[in-house]
Amino acid sequence: MSRLIIEGGGRLRGRVRVPGDKSISHRVLMLGAIAEGVTEVEGFLEGADTLATLAAFRSLGVAVEHAEPGRLRIEGRGLRGLHAPPGPLDLGNSGTSMRLLAGLLAGQPFDTILTGDASLTRRPMRRVITPLERMGGAILCTSEGTAPLVIRGGRSLRGIDYDLPIASAQVKSALLLAGLYAEGPTRLREPAGSRDHTERMLRRFGATIATEGGVVRLTPGTPLEATRVDVPADLSSAAFFLVGAAMKPGSDLVIDHAGVNPTRTGVLDLLRLMGADIEVLEAHSSSWADEGGEPVADVRVRGGALRGVEIPERLVPLAIDEFPALFIAAAAARGETVLCGAEELRHKESDRIETMARGLRTLGIEARPTADGIVIRGGALQGGVVDSASDHRVAMAFAMAGLAVHGSIEVADCDNIATSFPGFVEAAQRAGLRVRWA
Ligand code: S3P
Repeated sequence: MSRLIIEGGGRLRGRVRVPGDKSISHRVLMLGAIAEGVTEVEGFLEGADTLATLAAFRSLGVAVEHAEPGRLRIEGRGLRGLHAPPGPLDLGNSGTSMRLLAGLLAGQPFDTILTGDASLTRRPMRRVITPLERMGGAILCTSEGTAPLVIRGGRSLRGIDYDLPIASAQVKSALLLAGLYAEGPTRLREPAGSRDHTERMLRRFGATIATEGGVVRLTPGTPLEATRVDVPADLSSAAFFLVGAAMKPGSDLVIDHAGVNPTRTGVLDLLRLMGADIEVLEAHSSSWADEGGEPVADVRVRGGALRGVEIPERLVPLAIDEFPALFIAAAAARGETVLCGAEELRHKESDRIETMARGLRTLGIEARPTADGIVIRGGALQGGVVDSASDHRVAMAFAMAGLAVHGSIEVADCDNIATSFPGFVEAAQRAGLRVRWA
């Protein structure tokens, strides 16, 4: 299990381009696989999570050429062209792969088994199983509602009219993918808007889908058509750099070509609320913007003093993956930061409320978990050894804490950084973080 050592001090300067968006990379594989024709992809994330989805589709009979990093050529097999895989599909650490595939595979003529690593097989799956069963699917799981999942094939699915109990793009996307195979339309409402990459990409591939008044409506029956997709840089990976630069005076950093889809930009709003100096430069759209694509921009951040805030609950789903990084900003800020309405953080790759609180306390910061959030009192960060609990985002967040620490930080159990951000350490070194593998 590899460890990171971060020497205190440093600041972040220059330009950084982080790898491709994880959510979009998963989705382009899924839709490319069931489209008619060849989908060409640039900027695909070469992370363990998205490579697990790629391997799964190869097992399902899809030819994917991957001649160069970031470039894929997916030979779509059409909606009905997937084959039974030779064995269980191992999705490693990736919750997005498992939940979205559960939806996509519920309407196939064959059975599939989905499994994953110790973290993934602890995560809740009934949130997708329950509505998929209401659509006519049949999915077996453990008595705890966890993977391995056995997805029974040969079922006839019906469209569903469903109020999601939680704002979850993974649940919404699973149901939309199942809806492609169902009889009749699927209508979904969320308690708060979650990331809408699936809706945008389905539209891009020619599906009949519309969002109106908070209701997503998919009408099946239109074949998907292959397309080209340029994947923007992942704002969730950029978030570590945004936080690091924002909280360290003397920093001045530009993140290139970042995805700034408004359902993902809660981190920018929250950092600004905390007093950060952030500029979204020349927001331009990728080549497919006019077909419902993804907006992209360069983002400049300059370091300064941050203040603690009460986090508005409406921003929680829009920044759901960025809280580990934002908790570091809160630790370095003046005053108290209060987060509520974020119980979902307990169900990510680790229980992010507990793992972050434990690590922050090790670094001398007062951090009090609550049932659905945390209260952090900013202060002087001291050195120490923190455990990431194998959670990629926790590991990268504590690495950035090095910018504000007196002494040095050791972060244990960092292998999973490669699930979402291969090359993180090198990119951080180039920008000015004093980090190295132990
Ligand atoms: C994702 C949705 C989010 C997020 C995850 C990726 C996606 O999960 O935390 O990292 O690609 O749909 P939820 O939808 O469960 O909140």
